[in-house]
Amino acid sequence: MANQPPTTYWDYIRVEDLLGLQGGLGNDESTLEEEELLFITVHQVFELWFKLVRTDMAAARDLFMRPRVSEQELSQAVSRLRRVTTIFKMGVKHFELVETIGTREYLAFRNKLMPASGFQSAQMRQIEVLFGLDDDERIPLGAPGSHIAALRDPDGSESSALKHLRETQADGPNLRDAVRSWLERTPIDGVPHGDAKSAAAREGFLKGFLESQRAEVSKARVRAKEVAPEADHERLDKLYDREIASTEAFLRGTDVKGDPQRVHARVAMLFIETYRELPLLAWPREVLAGIIEVEQAFLVFRQRHARMVERVIGRRVGTGGSAGVDYLDKTALEYRVFRDLWAVRTLLLRREAAPPLGEAAFYGFSAEE
Ligand code: HEM
Repeated sequence: MANQPPTTYWDYIRVEDLLGLQGGLGNDESTLEEEELLFITVHQVFELWFKLVRTDMAAARDLFMRPRVSEQELSQAVSRLRRVTTIFKMGVKHFELVETIGTREYLAFRNKLMPASGFQSAQMRQIEVLFGLDDDERIPLGAPGSHIAALRDPDGSESSALKHLRETQADGPNLRDAVRSWLERTPIDGVPHGDAKSAAAREGFLKGFLESQRAEVSKARVRAKEVAPEADHERLDKLYDREIASTEAFLRGTDVKGDPQRVHARVAMLFIETYRELPLLAWPREVLAGIIEVEQAFLVFRQRHARMVERVIGRRVGTGGSAGVDYLDKTALEYRVFRDLWAVRTLLLRREAAPPLGEAAFYGFSAEE
């Protein structure tokens, strides 16, 4: 260190390099249209935030993959997830800045972008892959696999953007699977997963829960019918019947052929949320809250982008060839990764209605408490 010259801000932050990157295709800022500098700069800022999102998401994923995840590690994972949420929320604010570009000003340079668009943001795809969006859940722009085709160089060869995406695809499990594997190992009613009594403990909790849930839904049904006109009763009955049937189907894993791992993960989520006051469940519960926050922020980010786009270009075809706002709105509605965790929100009961817990002491409560 002794012989090292004093550090300067500009060398450390690479300010000169950074400020020399907004010249567009010809690398000459003097050729840019009036609002083009803002347009390029905002996209670059987003790409930098995306880089941090990738880092934090991968770090959280790695923590969940440990054979035994300590409380301290869970708190670290939550911090990482919360920062991702903050970045998405800041991204939402950035769209306000993009909206200061008027439609006519944007049209002045829009055609030269074609067929480029955010659809070619490899980092956005890497984030989706890391988060856990499956390829078969994607909405293609034409042929299936269009998100991969869009990342090819104009001559059809693999661009470095596509290579980066492939690297992420090959790099370990996604966050959804990592969280699921952690949940699969979560003890239910004090019995660690893998223990001979684990299935019985799960079944015990499940039975009690389903009974309480049916009783709660019945109360809501009675009240709803008291305040609704008679003509509406049949419709309400169908809705409440469906709520009861879908709860049981979800917790028994009917849609996933009863896959025991998946079922255990679902029941574990419900268990954590149902007994969230227990000391040992404090961090697991924060994890679930942190994940819901990230996914919600991600969805709001997509929706906000779509509203910004609608304001600037209306409903015209995107430069990347999609149906524009229609396509973007569809992604905001349909791209959902932690579906099971969202589904658990429908099932939760008020605190007093939760079935009694057999092994409260295991989770840090003494009998007197
Ligand atoms: C005037 C500004 C903008 C307009 C009019 C616009 C428009 C669009 C449109 C129409 C699409 C759909 C794909 C296509 O057909 O091109 C798209 C996709 C996308 N845009 Fe923008 N955009 C703008 C600014 C931004 C900014 C600042 C970001 C920040 C990163 C961004 C990120 C994305 C991403 C990631 C996608 C891919 C979405 C997906 O496929 O799920 N866009 N944009």
